[in-house]
Amino acid sequence: MPESTATAQPLMKQADTAGLAEAARLLCEGKLVAFPTETVYGLGGNALDDKAVAAIFACKGRPQFNPLIVHVDHMQRLHGHVVWNDTAKLLAAHFWPGALTLVVERSMDSALSYLVSAGLSTVAVRIPAHTVAQALLSQCGIPVAAPSANASGMLSPTTPLHVAESLGSKVDLILMGGKTTVGVESTVVDTTTTPPRLLRHGGLPYEKIVGILPDLIDMTAQTADEANPGASPGMLLSHYAPRLPLRMNATQVEASEALLAFGPDHFIRGGYTRLNLSKEGDLNEAAANLFAMLHTLDKSGAASIAVCPIPETGLGMAINDRLRRATIR
Ligand code: TXA
Ligand code: MG
Repeated sequence: MPESTATAQPLMKQADTAGLAEAARLLCEGKLVAFPTETVYGLGGNALDDKAVAAIFACKGRPQFNPLIVHVDHMQRLHGHVVWNDTAKLLAAHFWPGALTLVVERSMDSALSYLVSAGLSTVAVRIPAHTVAQALLSQCGIPVAAPSANASGMLSPTTPLHVAESLGSKVDLILMGGKTTVGVESTVVDTTTTPPRLLRHGGLPYEKIVGILPDLIDMTAQTADEANPGASPGMLLSHYAPRLPLRMNATQVEASEALLAFGPDHFIRGGYTRLNLSKEGDLNEAAANLFAMLHTLDKSGAASIAVCPIPETGLGMAINDRLRRATIR
């Protein structure tokens, strides 16, 4: 797969009745649709579908699995997926729909893809204030994961043309809804901590939130001191790592170890429990399975996890990035 040459012409449709219907259908089929929100254009995929979420990362060429924002048209749509706390309820009541993303706890039995929250026990959610986004989210009736619709490392898109230039035909449809009004990404607040923490400055001004939530802490000023120096916004998080020790590039497995294989694995015998990220060696499938399988192996009763070598190409880079972090204790 060519990495970033977005030369082929993407499919672009006006956000009229027919365009919206097609976009909603594609999302339900697991395809990727770029759509306008009031902040920036989002690269949407079904948040319940591991493969669709993996395809988002592949499309952006992201070298890491940063957790994504789940977009819905109304709060009831998140029922069974998240646990509301008082802070989140308060902020949602004041600022939704709008340019504010709330990090909340995932429900234990949520069907949201683990990849959406990069394996964390929390999830970021937002109701966008944009008629096209709302119509789309209501018509498809599913929660939609959407990072900004640009290739990794490029500027966030505020017009359909930006999306086309950056992603080309790697996105299945670009729903055109003019220029976005806010133009910067949403503000991100983690409501799961006491006191709550601002993780990213954005479209909803800090002062407005502090007006409602005086004890809000601005974590963005502290980036360099936190877990990872030179960090991107997502790096403020302690990322999901399995409880068990993990070793990479395993070519054989001990009896006490769980095996996380990739590609043909018949030549490796034994192991306490065995799972395969993708027997066909498909990196997108592997990404889609990664966090769910790590969770399963973590609970398997094995003493540690051995992971087969994974190529450093495409989503393999993001998979290896996560695995390397999991080896650091
Ligand atoms: O305006 C926006 O927010 C746009 C539009 C499309 O909605 N989306 C966007 O998504 O900017 P993205 O993926 O580029 O940024 C998501 C941000 C990142 O900073 C990420 O670290 C944070 O939200 N985030 C997502 N899930 C999180 C979680 N569970 N805990 C903490 N931070 C999280
Ligand atoms: Mg972005």
